[in-house]
Amino acid sequence: MKKISISQRAANTPASAIRKLVPLADDAKKRGIKVYHVNIGNPDLPTPEPILRSIKEFKEPTLEYAPSSGMFSAIKGWQKFYRDKGCNFDLNDIIVTSGGSEGLIFAFFAIADPQDELIVFEPFYTSYAIIAAMGNIKLKPVRTYVKDGFHLPKREVIEKAITGKTRGIVACNPNNPTGTMYTADEVKMLADIALKHNLFIISDETYQEIVFDGKKVLPFSSFKKLHPQLIITDSVSKRFNSCGARVGCVASKNKEVMQVALRFAQSRLSVATVEQLALVPMLENHKAYLEKLKKTYQSRRDTVVRELKKIPGVTAVKPEGAFYIIPKLPIDDSDKFAAFLLTSFSDKKETVMVAPATGFYATKGLGKNEIRIAYVLEEKKLERAMELLGLAIKKYNKI
Ligand SMILES: Cc1ncc(COP(=O)(O)O)c(C=O)c1O
Repeated sequence: MKKISISQRAANTPASAIRKLVPLADDAKKRGIKVYHVNIGNPDLPTPEPILRSIKEFKEPTLEYAPSSGMFSAIKGWQKFYRDKGCNFDLNDIIVTSGGSEGLIFAFFAIADPQDELIVFEPFYTSYAIIAAMGNIKLKPVRTYVKDGFHLPKREVIEKAITGKTRGIVACNPNNPTGTMYTADEVKMLADIALKHNLFIISDETYQEIVFDGKKVLPFSSFKKLHPQLIITDSVSKRFNSCGARVGCVASKNKEVMQVALRFAQSRLSVATVEQLALVPMLENHKAYLEKLKKTYQSRRDTVVRELKKIPGVTAVKPEGAFYIIPKLPIDDSDKFAAFLLTSFSDKKETVMVAPATGFYATKGLGKNEIRIAYVLEEKKLERAMELLGLAIKKYNKI
């Protein structure tokens, strides 16, 4: 009799690089060690009051299914959000999703068949690899480097990665895990490549407003010609400190893409009702809130970069956005080092948890001397976390 087994696709799906060290952190805590978490982009800032109030004051007698495409007011909220950025979407161009994550699943599956290829810039957000594996889609990594602040390589390098199987380019601006904000020229270059080679752009805009030093992202939507090839995936998680709300959207002016995204959305019936409604006021009115948020992260970025530069042998290029940085450390193996921090190191009963950068690369062997830091703690805690990192590097290199 044939042995029961899971699918090859399932077996090939990687674990999240960000979450796999969690059991080691739990053990450290059980041993009475305080762990500073800079390993995951889970912001510590309070969720805006209007969101929490709306959740508490929900009055409907029954929690009904919402429409698969999203509640009317939530779609209108996203429509206003984009209109304020100069992009006019029809209501049918937007589907509310369960976080940006579901939007990415819909976008990947809408444009790529098994064995088709999507270009990503490595290091990249690890869920792209998980979603691609779920769909038997191949990610074609184009490398970016610490020394360049992870900015894009020359056009020829990107074009060289395009094959007959390439269906699109995935770009996250500003970027997780690097914090890089692609310049207007870089965005133009990608738009131009997509137009020339007839590729989709999946624009992950999760962090789009979190940019520093007065900079501003040039959105792909500003290129009218690109609209039929552009799919935006978006999220309230980071910009409105609402990771647990699980609200995002997928938006495109390509009708075929949106029709198929709606069919995908029908498979999960709907997104949670209360949270969809609760986010509407922030989608409609957020200018002042985001200005403050940017200042908070910019100041934290400055603290982390300043403290990292004090550690001998560390290369850290100032990131321009999001709340991440990938420094290069004088270590041989970031996976071993991240585990060491939780199992074999502490100073005054404290340690720090980081994400090894290997999980953000598709190319085996890369990221071994890099880690990702998410600066989602208050500055005093960030200072201590960086101090712990410095002490740990010293100790790790002695063993
Ligand atoms: C680049 C990027 N895209 C998408 C997401 C998904 O976010 P969510 O599903 O919480 O909206 C994240 C979350 O960390 C992210 O960093």
